[in-house]
Formats: sequence, C-alpha cells, structure tokens
Amino acid sequence: MSRIDAATDRAESAYDWVDSRLDLEGGSDFLGKAFPAEDSFLLGEVALFCFAILVSTGTFLAFFYEPSTAAVEYGGSVAQYQGQEVPAAFKSVLNITYDVPFGMFLRRMHHWAAHLFVAAIALHMLRVFFTGAYRNPREPNWLVGTGLAGLAMFAAYTGYSLPYDEFASTAVGIGYNVAASVPIVGDPLASIVFGGQFPTSATIPRLFFLHVFLIPAAIAGLIAVHMAILVRQKHTEAQRDGDVAAAETSGGTAAAGGGAEATDGGARLIDRDDDSVVIGLPAFPNQAAVSAVVFFLTMAVLSLLAGLLPVHNIAEYGPNDPASTPSLVMPDWFLMWGYGFLKLTPSWLSFDVLGIHVSSEFVGGLLLPGLVFVAVAVWPFIDRAEKPEHFTRNYLDRPFPTAVGILGVTLVMVASIAGMDVILAEILGTSTAVLRPYLTAALVLVPAAAGTLTYAILGGFEDDSGEGGAEPTMSEDDGTASATEGSSDD
Ligand code: HEM
Repeated sequence: MSRIDAATDRAESAYDWVDSRLDLEGGSDFLGKAFPAEDSFLLGEVALFCFAILVSTGTFLAFFYEPSTAAVEYGGSVAQYQGQEVPAAFKSVLNITYDVPFGMFLRRMHHWAAHLFVAAIALHMLRVFFTGAYRNPREPNWLVGTGLAGLAMFAAYTGYSLPYDEFASTAVGIGYNVAASVPIVGDPLASIVFGGQFPTSATIPRLFFLHVFLIPAAIAGLIAVHMAILVRQKHTEAQRDGDVAAAETSGGTAAAGGGAEATDGGARLIDRDDDSVVIGLPAFPNQAAVSAVVFFLTMAVLSLLAGLLPVHNIAEYGPNDPASTPSLVMPDWFLMWGYGFLKLTPSWLSFDVLGIHVSSEFVGGLLLPGLVFVAVAVWPFIDRAEKPEHFTRNYLDRPFPTAVGILGVTLVMVASIAGMDVILAEILGTSTAVLRPYLTAALVLVPAAAGTLTYAILGGFEDDSGEGGAEPTMSEDDGTASATEGSSDD
C-alpha cells in the first residue's frame, strides 16, 4: 500500500469515527441550505466577522492590559511620562501602543472593528427594516437583534473607559451620573455597574469584567440564538422576476438561483409565488466562498484603517485627573444621539411624582433613548402581518413604514448633531445657549417633516388602504406572493 493510500485510509477511518459520534452525514443537510444572493444580506455577515475580529484582537490586548488604577512609575518609551507615577491601566495602554510588538496596530484594529461592528449592525437593521423582513414570522429575531444592538453599544462604552485617560474617564463619568439618576434604584444600579461611586479603584476592574467577559458572552449567546432562528426560519427572499428552474441539493433545498441549470437531482420549476421554497446559493461551497470573500474584505478594510488612521491618543490626553475637566467631552458617534437628548433636556424637567424624584438627567439620558429602543422593539407588532411573509417588500410600496423609518433615522441624526452642539456653536460663532432652543425645535420638526414628506412622495395620502404596511400593496400578478405558510424546505 502506498503512503498516499495509507494516509487516505487513516483520514477515512478518522472521519468514520467522528461521524459515528456526531452524525456528520445527518448534519450535511445544512450544507445544502439556500442563501438568497442579495448583497445587502451580507451586512449581517460583516457584523458577525467584526465580532470575531473584536474577540481575537481583544484577547491580544487583554494579555498586556492591567485593570487597575494603582499608581505605578512609567518607564516606557513615551518621553513626557518618563519617571512619572501614572495609573497602571493608563501605563499598560501606553505600553501596548508604543512598546508591545504589533500592539499599536492591533489596538487600532480593535478600535476600528468596534466602529465597523456598530455601523454594520445599524445598516443591517435598516436593511431589515426597509425590506419589511422583520414581519411575521421573524419578529423574534428582530427582538434578539434589538438586544444585540443595545449590547454592542454598551460593549463599546465600557471599552472606552479602560485606558483611564482624562478624556475617556470624563465621558464615562457622564454615564455614571445618568445611571445614578434612575429613580429609586439609581444608586445601587450605578454601584453595580461602576463598582461604587465613580471613579473608585473598583471601577476599572468592574468595567473590565463587563467589557471582556459578561457583555461579549451575552453577545455571543444572542448571536447564536439569532443564527439558530435564521437557520430555522430561512432568509427572506427578494421577489422573483418569474418562475425559476432550480436544482435540488442534498439538503432538499431548491438552490442555485434564478434560471439555474439542473445539476444532480434534476431541475424543478419553482413558481414565482411559491414561498415554501427558498431560491439561493447552497451554503456549501457557494455561499461559504462568498462569505470568505466578505471576511477577507472586512479584514482588509480594518487593516487599512488600522495601518493609516490613529485612534484615541491617550498620550495626548494624559491620565485621569478628577480635579480637571477637558474642554470638549464627547462620546463616540453611535452614542452621540443619546448625548444629544441629554443635552437638549432642559434642567427644569426635573419633578417629583409620589415622592419619587425624576431628574432631567434621567429623562434625557435614559428615558428618551430607552423609548427609542422600545419603539424599535415593538415595531414588528405595530406593522403586523397576519400570515407569514417570506418575500421582502419594496420600500417604495410601503409609504407608512418607510416614512416611519425615515422619521427615525432623521431623529437620530438631529439628536446626534445636538450632541455636538459645542462644535456647531464654534463653527457658527455663537454659544450653545443660543443654539439649544433651535436644536430642540429641529428635533421635533425636522423628523416630523421628513416623515410626512416621505409619506406624501410615496403616495401615502392617496392610498385608501393607508398601507400601514399590514397588507401587501402589490397583487400576486406583480410577483408578490401573499404568504400562506412558513418555509418548509427542509
Ligand atoms: C451582533 C449583531 C448582529 C449580527 C452578527 C447579525 C447577523 C445576521 C446575519 C448573518 C443574518 C443573515 C444575513 C442577513 O440577512 O443580513 C441576519 C438576519 C437577520 N437579522 Fe441580524 N444580526 C445582528 C443584529 C441585528 C439587529 C440589530 C437586528 C434588528 C433589530 C437584526 C434582525 C435580523 C433579522 C430580522 C434577520 C432575518 C432577515 C431576513 O430573513 O431577511 N439583526 N442577522
């Protein structure tokens, strides 16, 4: 027997052994699952890959990071801190940046991956929203997704605090005050999250634990649920141009895309309205190859960003100094809208109800952003579909949901501009006090106007049905199936 034959035999018996334990043959059905070939469906994958990159670069950073505020002498290569006593956390991030091999690159990569993660989640959410893919039966996955969006922001926020530099600590301190402002449970809640009254020596270890363990574990768990629901329910699919000849795969799924030629198993003509079958690329090898390209592109973009663009320069800000406040404090862009609400809520909006104090900080910093999240979470139950729908919808045919989406996006944008009011005031040569009434008016009027205009342009006022999105606007002749039952292609 040649060496190659012997090696093949060994590989086969190893495969048989694993198959006898894990039933690989049974699992291979999954490899035939169909993935609709829609580019915008790749945004979810970008988010997934960013999470994987965040975990691996974060693991590298955690090898060198020290979660402590104890004063230690700095002896690294940044001349301005030589011989000075600085917090251990601050020192360790200086070391990662300037002394650990590849440290600066991987720190930057972690930073940009966090930004791309949140951006991809936001765009993915918008794609799901504007195509109506959250409707029956996918409401549970929309809810899981809403949780993921909140957790992703919280993960970024806790990570921001870790270098314990002056800028980040001040920004994190704002979060502490907001948490402490929650009526009745504010103080214990803030103590649990921040390890006592911010900033104590317990704050950084507590935020470190949340950032590197609890929140990533929760995100990983929710991603697993998100993917399990996706596999169970299948993707939505864009409306078909006509009937499709598709090849059967081992998974029993019609795959290979519109007009596909028959391969093994022979071709079957799938009716354009038949939503019991998903048409798309088989998971393996076609979709796996597409996903590999998306992964390497994500890596390439992040490497380019990490190689070229510096991140949060802690050497410039210096270590946390409770006695001083930096002149300009701002959160990252994805938290800016919440900061905008906080800034625009007037201080007179503090009141007492039944002896319970409700502060303007709570209203602006938590209540209003929280209401936005609640509105997002309950939306699939407002834009309800009585029967399951497995085809995506054209946003131009859904005046009401599209108008609500535009209203929401505009609200977040105006609130984000309000969060940057200091910069805006500087550009316009005025003060924030002068600007704020205008920004408050804009926060109410601009989203309302944008939503109404969208509704009017899409013909919502002429449409008798009002198209709250509850019923499909196109007839079956247009190619939109009114769904009757869930996908049953497995
Ligand atoms: C860590 C964050 C997230 C990851 C990694 C993720 C990943 C994915 C992936 C890979 C898909 C399949 C491909 C696609 O349709 O893009 C998907 C589908 C879906 N996601 Fe997410 N997602 C995340 C957050 C969200 C959020 C914030 C929402 C909405 C609030 C959401 C709602 C959905 C829904 C409803 C589907 C099914 C869409 C369909 O069948 O067309 N996801 N997700």
